[in-house]
Amino acid sequence: MRLDRFLAETTELTRSLAKKALHRGEVSIDGEIVKNPALQVDEASRVTWNDEPLALVGLRYLMLHKPSGVECTARRTLYPRAIDLIELPKGERLQTVGRLDVDTTGLVLLTDDGQWSHRVTSPKHRFGKVYRVTLAEPLEGEALEWAAAAFAEGVRLDGEEKPTRPAELSMREPTVAELTLFEGKYHQVKRMFAAIGHHVVALHRASIGPLALGDLPAGEWRELTADEIAAF
Ligand code: URA
Repeated sequence: MRLDRFLAETTELTRSLAKKALHRGEVSIDGEIVKNPALQVDEASRVTWNDEPLALVGLRYLMLHKPSGVECTARRTLYPRAIDLIELPKGERLQTVGRLDVDTTGLVLLTDDGQWSHRVTSPKHRFGKVYRVTLAEPLEGEALEWAAAAFAEGVRLDGEEKPTRPAELSMREPTVAELTLFEGKYHQVKRMFAAIGHHVVALHRASIGPLALGDLPAGEWRELTADEIAAF
């Protein structure tokens, strides 16, 4: 990799600012000041900028317990973004794997590996996403049987051509449902319950495929283990 690109990848410098830093003699390779932006850097090169060693950031795989009031978006809005909670170099390169609404809490995966993200979200791979759904009114008896059958069959949401893919519904309490989805449409859980006449007052994602949030506190994140990454 060219030295100016290496500097842009490993620091906050753009490529043109990296060239200026090189010109000022701030960059060394293996202890020698270097000024040529086209020099090739390989894995063995020890590159420093103002005596700080630099290293390329590899692909990252994280889980976050998203609190309410945080948005899963790359652009800046009124709300803090999920990536703002992750204090890592080049954090803006991370993307959330799918999205949760600003008021939804729970498990969000983040990565800079687009192919892995696609594998996790693609309905083809059938990684179920489990949601705990708090309803305004109880859902029980025949209404529950009918709702579970409708969700298993697929419901037609406003503005959608195809019905939802089969989903699994069970109740934890009369107003607390557990819903497993194998796809991710916009506001899907809230729209599915609206389609059967129920209003969602709180929504929490507990797991995605083999990965559960466990006891990770709200607002905290951790790196996935090699086994967890490979599980998708
Ligand atoms: N479905 C929703 O309605 N909201 C979410 O945040 C996730 C799934």
